[in-house]
Amino acid sequence: MSQKPEDIFKNVISHSKEYGFIFQSSEIYDGLSAVYDYGQLGAELKKNIRDYWWKAMVQMHENIVGIDAAIFMHPTTWKASGHVDAFNDPLIDNKDSKKRYRADVLIEEHVAKLEDKINKEVEKAAKKFENFDAALFKSTNGRVKEYQEKIDAINARFKTALNENNLQEVKQIIVDLEIVCPISGSRNWTDVRQFNLMFSTSIGSVSDESNTIYLRPETAQGIFVNYLNVQKTGRMKLPFGIAQTGKAFRNEIVARQFIFRMREFEQMEMQFFVKPGTEMQWYEHWKQTRLKWHLSLNLGAQKYRFHDHLKLAHYANAACDIEFEFPFGFKELEGIHSRTDFDLKQHEQFSGKKLQYFDSELNQSYVPYVVETSVGLDRLFLAVLSSALKEEQLENDTRTVLQLPAAIAPYKAAIFPLIKKDGLPELAEKIMQNLKFDFNVAYDEKDTVGKRYRRQDAIGTPFCITVDHQSLEDQTVTIRYRDSMQQERMPIANLSVFLAENVGIKTLLQTL
Ligand code: GAP
Repeated sequence: MSQKPEDIFKNVISHSKEYGFIFQSSEIYDGLSAVYDYGQLGAELKKNIRDYWWKAMVQMHENIVGIDAAIFMHPTTWKASGHVDAFNDPLIDNKDSKKRYRADVLIEEHVAKLEDKINKEVEKAAKKFENFDAALFKSTNGRVKEYQEKIDAINARFKTALNENNLQEVKQIIVDLEIVCPISGSRNWTDVRQFNLMFSTSIGSVSDESNTIYLRPETAQGIFVNYLNVQKTGRMKLPFGIAQTGKAFRNEIVARQFIFRMREFEQMEMQFFVKPGTEMQWYEHWKQTRLKWHLSLNLGAQKYRFHDHLKLAHYANAACDIEFEFPFGFKELEGIHSRTDFDLKQHEQFSGKKLQYFDSELNQSYVPYVVETSVGLDRLFLAVLSSALKEEQLENDTRTVLQLPAAIAPYKAAIFPLIKKDGLPELAEKIMQNLKFDFNVAYDEKDTVGKRYRRQDAIGTPFCITVDHQSLEDQTVTIRYRDSMQQERMPIANLSVFLAENVGIKTLLQTL
């Protein structure tokens, strides 16, 4: 059954709540905007995704190590990194609705509407003509050319305005494009101003300006300030990487789309330190390596694309996003940035400490360049969940099934006694106790087996193991596959090896 994207998204949100994946933070107090809690199954799924990233990025690479830096950092860190002065979003208010928007998002949404118009023209023509050539059509059709010219002109003007930090011009673009507030429908806009996204608090018992510290807006700086500690104590040779996962905080102006854009979220980042001049080669390498990692999750190759940045961040000489097709369209999932020696040089300057590398081949010291891979764990979670959730039409029924990659599913198997007597629960319990050492398994004896299957399908458990009377006689069980719903009999003694081969993290790692 094909569903509309907005319905898929609604289902993902309600399914997340119904089955204990995600709850709104402090829900009993009506929640806190753009902050979410992971429930009993969400915490498992999130941990499994994080573990898979860590295994693939850190433990499978001899030249990458992982750290766990504190969220609080010396406030000068954020002066040096440029976040105090430049980690801003352009903000605009509508005076009638009193709603606040990101000025860049308003413009990008306008451009997206024009792109939609082009796509509709192409779709219409493709239906009309046989042997349709989309590229030729786009370059010759008058209406399409007109839309494309408009898009190019807006993008060029917008890029110049951003690069020159010309907020007056950003407002003028919004005025000229006649963009209206979706709530009030009016064009009564305030001026555009910059809004710093960092949360601040104070450390210690006395609150004054000098005690102001920030909740880190990215995990990367914890890596930069530890560069020398790790390089020296780990005796690391270039090129090498330092990775970490952890919370980051941003006071997003417009926080919406569930866990896509949150004010408290988790990042998984890796800074790869390289010899200056080799950074472009490593940038290409990490683009391909990270895409391959995403593809290994099997969510559909057509759902990924690269998007090169129009405006480079203050620290980058090349940058792109790996975008994913969420139910609300293609959006950034991961960023890959060539950050030059910007961060280390800034920290050298602000701390007065040398953060260099002695290259014994060249007999020379220099500040390494850095290529960064940075993915949002929550966005990855949303990508996985929204692609995995399916409504399937069966012969006489429908079922909800979460087709998660088996290796990251919260439970790897569920064990059922067919009925609650005759010694079946005892045997099922014994099997569970045995499997527990290596796999997260569930036990369920309530309701009919059919209902129990449906419950496990809905939370993505790849295998259900049923203990019946025959099990008592010949020590075999039935094992049912979540996706095909096929069943087969298997000796209890084989279960452990079967699960290791089918749900172990190795099943994913081997495809890399
Ligand atoms: N250290 C580089 C950096 O932080 P970024 O593009 O700002 O780069 C990296 O963020 C990733 O973090 C994004 O691709 C996204 O997956 C995730 N992310 C950023 N802001 C987020 C938010 N407000 N909510 C959830 N995830 C976010």
